[in-house]
Amino acid sequence: MADPVSYASQIKPLFNPQDIGCMSGMGVKLDDYTWMSDPTGGAMGSCTDFPDHMNGRSVYAKLTGECQPKMPLGGAPWDQASLDLYNQWMQDGFQP
Ligand code: HEM
Repeated sequence: MADPVSYASQIKPLFNPQDIGCMSGMGVKLDDYTWMSDPTGGAMGSCTDFPDHMNGRSVYAKLTGECQPKMPLGGAPWDQASLDLYNQWMQDGFQP
């Protein structure tokens, strides 16, 4: 079986400085493992209500466009391979 997807080595590098800068002002800490893996559930703004891991799951919903407006705002949408990797990170239990 493949190793679990790692936030530090595989997910964090997918965010560029502009993504991190734009979002940190809104409290969305894309470069912070503790925030990204927070197990608390709930709904962020008008996004889906998640039973757990609201932060990490809302980020994914924004990247796919399930939660509008789709992110990154004004930037190139993520390709399917990157979305799949992020989804696998969640399925693997939000590992560091
Ligand atoms: C991979 C990149 C990005 C991700 C994962 C991301 C994620 C998110 C998330 C989760 C929210 C919802 C926050 C909330 O409702 O409290 C949001 C909102 C927002 N983001 Fe981003 N973001 C990204 C890139 C960017 C960039 C580059 C910009 C600026 C150019 C930006 C500007 C905004 C704005 C203006 C909102 C508020 C939109 C609204 O609710 O009308 N984001 N983003």
